[in-house]
Amino acid sequence: MNEIDRDQYLIGKEPYYRALGNEVEMYQAAYDARMPVMLKGPTGCGKSRFVEYMAWKLGKPLITIACNEDMTASDLVGRFLLDINGTKWQDGPLTVAARIGAVCYLDEVVEARQDTTVIIHPLTDHRRNLPLEKKGELVTAHPDFQLVISYNPGYQSLMKDLKQSTKQRFGAMDFDYPEAEIETEIVAHEGDVDVQTAEKLVQVAQRSRNLKGHGLDEGMSTRLLVYAAQLIGKGVDVQSACRMALVRPLTDDPDMRDTLDAAVNTYF
Ligand SMILES: Nc1ncnc2c1ncn2[C@@H]1O[C@H](COP(=O)(O)OP(=O)(O)OP(=O)(O)O)[C@@H](O)[C@H]1O
Ligand SMILES: [Mg+2]
Repeated sequence: MNEIDRDQYLIGKEPYYRALGNEVEMYQAAYDARMPVMLKGPTGCGKSRFVEYMAWKLGKPLITIACNEDMTASDLVGRFLLDINGTKWQDGPLTVAARIGAVCYLDEVVEARQDTTVIIHPLTDHRRNLPLEKKGELVTAHPDFQLVISYNPGYQSLMKDLKQSTKQRFGAMDFDYPEAEIETEIVAHEGDVDVQTAEKLVQVAQRSRNLKGHGLDEGMSTRLLVYAAQLIGKGVDVQSACRMALVRPLTDDPDMRDTLDAAVNTYF
């Protein structure tokens, strides 16, 4: 059980992360206190990249678990598997993280059912343990272990919100799309395009973000801007790149597409 290869979860190379405020210092302090952290913010604004960066900076392994509504407690903690010699216990990713002292990132945690989410409760308070009920083992978390969850506020219905007893086990940090100058820097770096092009892409995105709630559920994310920049970097003409990476993913509504295509034409 102890021969889990911890090194495979280490992040070798420094991930590019452009800090937007004091989030690096705040996270560092939370980690030093082993406080569980919740990252809130819209899709594609840098939450996952931030966690990768912090795990690298802390020199700790990172285990990411993408949550979904079909996920069961066994998917997190582990299960008995049948093999030729009978049954054998296999740790789930949460158990592995607790044993090796990883930063465990539960992505989109609201997607998980509430009866699954409560599994993390004893890991997030003074107990810092994880009961493997089926196996009859109580795993004490490694001193380095920390839990991080992410959450897109606004996307889920009331039915699918986190329980207060879950929410109130975490310190929370708000993320959002960066201000224009910083987002330009990120898009230019990640998409490998010149600053002028990145600047215009960011302007298009800001236009779309103003349409949120007026026919769009969400504006263009930083991730989509990076996609558009990458296509442009591959020699695709700007209009086609923006249609594919910025406009088409966002909406199926023909009028809204025309509006957004027009915004692209205004800036380029
Ligand atoms: N502050 C930042 N520094 C560097 N890159 C960034 C930053 N913010 C966004 N990015 C870029 O945007 C992309 C998307 O970010 P990321 O995958 O972290 O989003 P996310 O918030 O985790 O989204 P989701 O909620 O959909 O998982 C990254 O791959 C990176 O290229
Ligand atoms: Mg993510």
